[in-house]
Amino acid sequence: MDKNFFITTPIYYPSAKPHMGHAYSSIIADFFARFKKIDGFKVHFLTGTDEHGLKIQRAAEEKNINTLDFCNEISLTFRNLSKTLNLVNTDFIRTTEERHKNAVQYLWNELVKNDEIYLSKYSGWYSVSDEAFYNDDELEIVDGNKVAISSKSKVEWVDEESYFFRLSKWEKPLLDFYKKNPNFISPESRRNEVISFVKNGLKDLSVSRKSFSWGIKVPNNDTHVIYVWLDALTNYISALNFPNKDDDLFKNFWPASIHLIGKDIIRFHAVYWPAFLLAAKIDLPKKIYGHGWILSDDEKMSKSKGNILDPLEIIDRYGLDPLRYYLIKEVSFGNDGSISQERLEDCINSDLANNFGNLCQRVTAFTINNCGGRVPKKIELQKDDIKILDNFKNNISLIREKIDNQDINFYINFIVNSLFEANKYFNDQEPWKKKDDKIRLDTIVYTTLEIVRKITFLLYPIIPKSTLKALEIFSLSENDINITSIENNQFLMKVDKINKIDILFKKIEKN
Ligand code: MSP
Repeated sequence: MDKNFFITTPIYYPSAKPHMGHAYSSIIADFFARFKKIDGFKVHFLTGTDEHGLKIQRAAEEKNINTLDFCNEISLTFRNLSKTLNLVNTDFIRTTEERHKNAVQYLWNELVKNDEIYLSKYSGWYSVSDEAFYNDDELEIVDGNKVAISSKSKVEWVDEESYFFRLSKWEKPLLDFYKKNPNFISPESRRNEVISFVKNGLKDLSVSRKSFSWGIKVPNNDTHVIYVWLDALTNYISALNFPNKDDDLFKNFWPASIHLIGKDIIRFHAVYWPAFLLAAKIDLPKKIYGHGWILSDDEKMSKSKGNILDPLEIIDRYGLDPLRYYLIKEVSFGNDGSISQERLEDCINSDLANNFGNLCQRVTAFTINNCGGRVPKKIELQKDDIKILDNFKNNISLIREKIDNQDINFYINFIVNSLFEANKYFNDQEPWKKKDDKIRLDTIVYTTLEIVRKITFLLYPIIPKSTLKALEIFSLSENDINITSIENNQFLMKVDKINKIDILFKKIEKN
């Protein structure tokens, strides 16, 4: 079985500081990366910044700063955000790095060699904000401005010499590929959207610009810079040391297991990127997943709308793990969602503090007071105990399958139900009334501790820091966490002492 897993986030435009939408993509990618890690996979997790193009050049000009200095400064805020979000990314790529530029120029030359690129002239509409070309039928007039219907960003007229990629020629091969690989684009609504876009006909794509200079030069014609999307998409292989196909990174991790992106950039990833790769005779990624948006006041966040939610403010106020938990649980994955302070506080008070934190505290205190602070070893499991323990064992392969289908909703529901069942089990079994039946009392304690251990392992990809604190109960550390061991009901037989831990989540006082 393929035990390598390569996951990517989009590389972010460092045109302004990161917002909640960026944090969302990264947190979800981190969730999958961590799950795969604890399931025994070698994980490569890539994120970074997309630094070329007119959008960035203009943002730097507005601030009157040298473009590279501007990128250096904002790229760093994205790198710092990765740390603040506690991501386990194994690389952070910047498209202004040499390793990337070389790979892009190599790919360009391959496309030229295969007769996929020709010189002509582009006359049409372009949105700098989306870095995208639009046809007339994709535009509308809003408040007197011509804007793209899909993104509402303004377009401007471009009339200049340009190199073109023979995208039209890939229409049929792409449709065949989507048919043969029904899971290539997920969720299904995005797949349908892409298929109907391609079926409508693909025109050759302008892949160079002449009227500005902030980009990677076209080899052999440095009056042109390479189209920023051809440049940016290549990050997924330049970070694996492409074009060195014998390099271990490329050999082990290409094709990518999944490119996780927002739904607004599905066309670039599910149409242009596979077409470039087919044309260059490089394998295609296994999956493109287009998630929904985090809305602010029911709209997509943007600088121009002034409705930006700052992840750092929320983290300062509530902590990182509550935010991660909220985004994973309350935003139905694949759909749009929003941040509600009230729902976030409910998650903290009810799920995290009451259902998880409290269970940890209760069973630890009970073990310390009634079992000498040690994991009971002389136990006799009965039907109720076996039933609740085996529920994990019986669901592990299903959980793996759901994760491979990006069904985060199933995963979190399984945890929420398990927590409910665990609390119910401890209450119903009333171990405090079993002081005369030591074996029964010990068996209930052992069973509850095992359940806490299993749930904590499952919670690790969602709230890593808090679960590591919880695992101090058993003196376990990050390296001990693995999915397979959740099937094992004897795991705690090798753990001796139970430690008291600090409160995991402070409840929020609501007024
Ligand atoms: N630079 C390109 C991506 C190149 S990938 C080869 C880009 N950058 S971006 O900074 O504008 O957006 C990065 C990601 O953030 C996209 O996936 C986008 O969908 C996501 N989000 C931006 N705003 C968002 C929300 N409000 N909610 C959720 N994600 C959204 O596009």
